[in-house]
This record gives sequence, structure tokens and C-alpha cells, in this order.
Amino acid sequence: MNSIPSKLQKKLADYNQAHLLTFWNELNDAEQQELDTQLKTIDFDQFVTLKAKSSEVTTKKVEPCATIPLDESNFDLGVRAIKNGEIGVLTVAGGQGTRLGWSGPKGTYPATPITGKSLFQVIAEQIVFASQKYNTTIPWYIMTSNQNDAITRAFLLDNNCFGLERTDIFLFTQGEVPAVDCDGNMLLATKSEVAMNPDGHGGVVAALQRSGGLEEMATRGIQHLSYVQIDNPLAQVIDPSFIGLHLSDRSSREASSKCVLKTDPDEKVGVFCTVNGNVEVVEYSDLPSEKATERGDNGALLYGGGSIALHLFSVEFLQQAAQRMQWHKANKKVSYVDVQTGEKIEPDSPNAFKYEKFVFDVLPFAKGTLVIETSREDEFAPIKNASGQDSSETSHLLQQNRAKRWLEAQGVEVSPQSTVEISPLTASCAMDLQEVNLPRAIGEDEIVAL
Ligand code: UTP
Repeated sequence: MNSIPSKLQKKLADYNQAHLLTFWNELNDAEQQELDTQLKTIDFDQFVTLKAKSSEVTTKKVEPCATIPLDESNFDLGVRAIKNGEIGVLTVAGGQGTRLGWSGPKGTYPATPITGKSLFQVIAEQIVFASQKYNTTIPWYIMTSNQNDAITRAFLLDNNCFGLERTDIFLFTQGEVPAVDCDGNMLLATKSEVAMNPDGHGGVVAALQRSGGLEEMATRGIQHLSYVQIDNPLAQVIDPSFIGLHLSDRSSREASSKCVLKTDPDEKVGVFCTVNGNVEVVEYSDLPSEKATERGDNGALLYGGGSIALHLFSVEFLQQAAQRMQWHKANKKVSYVDVQTGEKIEPDSPNAFKYEKFVFDVLPFAKGTLVIETSREDEFAPIKNASGQDSSETSHLLQQNRAKRWLEAQGVEVSPQSTVEISPLTASCAMDLQEVNLPRAIGEDEIVAL
């Protein structure tokens, strides 16, 4: 057994966290080493800053945000950027997926209605299709977490990267931050381990910097990233119309986002607002209800642009955005070891604060941000829950409905009772189906995967 390294002891005392060493003398050498190593990786200065900060949106001047419709006016500009190899895809897949309750990483969850393709496969195949269609290379940057990185890598390799070159996939892990109790004390998850939580999808900006991802993009000539989350199989990963609008008017635009109209004022999605003159996504819980329900002369919600987590970011912009993002704190249940008794406590109610960053918090710092309204039916079918709303059941229905609309647009008679799936390798829009040998009709009991 080793005595507590004096430097470590002093450091923890300086930050009022000496209690983390309470059980040091009970630990074996390996456990002491583990705790020492972990404590060295924690950024205590950042921890002090994050304890002091939280979201202050309610004290800011919040106004409605202008949106424009997603149209094809700049489609060719978008295609040119894709063909020039300027576009990469950025996916955040480090989440814990607690609501879904799936045993593996969420990206391995079977998402499509007939063939059961995983969420990773749906994105990978869209990239494969676009790379072939535009005769280019589109690299894929995937953020994982310490918990799911190894299994995600194995899953992609076991599946031959779903047709992508291994060298065009760049995996990197997100950061972690300590959870703290109501008095600002970090908690011990075990006697030899501090309780940590992932730093949120907004951790992606710092993680890209840390991992060398941004440099890798620069060497490839990637200038813009299409950001998609792992759990929305309807997300158009490479959308020339969206990219074209983003690149229109001014070449220096640093971010653009898609939104959909909220179905009702109480829908639990973040809302695009103008806050102190900048585009910002305000969480539904932070938007005062008098604003959430306010309507314009035409009856539409004034704060109606719901965020569906689809963005375009300029790579250069992300290079300087990481340090500026705020922390959000949430009161959660965190199990811990009581330093008085040594007992493991599983709290019944929230006992600690977890700190996270949200990716949309880069938007206020971006120049020229466009918020572009797209159709919910075409682009939003998230899988968040095991059943009910935003589950695979609702997502399957929405995926099928879009597939049926695409087929009908090509003159196929489709029974509403049929079951249909269109592979991302077959088409990325209704027009692509012109190249496909289609049936004249799909009858009510038919199950058709194209
Ligand atoms: P969610 O906020 O829906 O979280 O993530 P989740 O972890 O998937 O699910 P719950 O809330 O635990 O049920 C939205 C997206 O952000 C990613 C997720 O992987 C998903 O793509 N994410 C979230 C991260 O990459 N890291 C995080 O720390 C949190």
C-alpha cells in the first residue's frame, strides 16, 4: 500500500475535494493507481468554472427568429460543394440512450421497418450513396463515449463499415465531467472512482479539437460539416438544397440549421429564437409560456421553429468555438459512496448536478446563421423511447410514409396497408427513383424493400 502522493493531496485540498481520498488506505495498489490516474485527468480549473456558470437565458432579450423555407434555389451550389469534396458528416453517438433501454450503443439499434438496418447503417449508406452519386469522398466523423467507443468500433468493422472505406471514418471520444452534490462536492462512484458523466453532445466541438479531427478535416479540404444525431433515420445526411442555401449570399456563413414547425406550443423541443440579436435554441423548459403560446396575425406560433438537431457548421468556425460554449446543469439521481459510512447509496430523488454542453450553443457565436424550415414528415422520425411517442414504432410508420410518398411521386400506386422500405443505397429523394425499376403497384398485403 502507498501513502497518498503529497501533490495530489494538496491539489484536492486546494479545490475542496479532499474527501475523494477518504478510502485511499483501503485500496489495493491497482485501485490507488486507478484513482490517481483518474484524478489527474480531471480538469479542476474547468470544474471551478462550470460550478459557477449555468444557463441564464431567462434574463436575456428573447425575440422570434426569422426562418426561410427549404427550397431548391441554390441546389447547384450545394452539389458543387459536395463534388468538390468540401463536405464531411459529423454524427454524435456518445449518448447513453437511457430512454431507449437498448443494451448496446444506440447506433446499433435496428431502425428500419423491414430489413431492420441499424441507425449507423442508415447514415453510412446515405454517405455511400451520395459519394457515388456525386463521385466524391465524404468522410464521416463519429463521436463516441468512453463507454461505447470500443463496441462502436467493433460494430463498424464487423459490418465492413457498411461499404465505406475504413480510412474515411474518424472516431473520437467525447469528454467527461464530474457530477457534484448540492454543496459542490464531487462524488465517488466507488471507493476508487470519481462519478463522472459525459459532457453532452456539445462536447463534440472540444472533442473534435482534442482528437485532431479538425486538423484532419483541414488536410482533406473539408470546409463544412453536416451534423446529424444518431437517432433520426429520416435525417437527410447530405442535402444539396440545405448546403446550397448555407453557402448562398455570403461565403462567410458559419452555421445553418433546419427547423420544423412545432405541432403545438407544449411540444418538448428546443425553439429557435433571437436572443440579444443572435440566433439561439432555447430549451422548451426555458421559454416562458406566454411566449411559447404567442401567435402572429396569421395564427402561426411566433416561437414555432422547433429544432430537429440538423445543422451545417463551417470547420473554421468550430476551430474557435469550443471555449465559448456554456454549461447547462441538471439535477439528477447519481449513485455514490457515502464518505462517512463507506456505503453505496442509490438515491430515490435527484441528489446531484450533472453538467453538459449542447451543440446548438455554438449558434449564437456564428456569423450569418440561417434557420431553414423543412418538412417534419420528410426529415424527423427520432427513436428516443422503447415504446409510445418517438419510438421505433412511430419512426417505422414515418419512414414508410415517406417511402410511399416518394413512390407515389413516381406514379406507383401504393396501398396504405402495404409495408415499404427504401434503402438509402437506392434513393435519397423521390427523383432518384427514376433510375430504379419500380413496380406499377404495391398491394395491401405486400412487403416491399427496394
Ligand atoms: P439525447 O439527448 O437524445 O440522449 O441525444 P441519448 O443519450 O441518446 O438518450 P437518453 O436521453 O439517455 O435517453 C441526442 C444525440 O446526442 C448524442 C446522442 O448519442 C444522440 O445522437 N449525445 C448525447 C452524445 O453524443 N453525447 C452525450 O453526452 C449526449
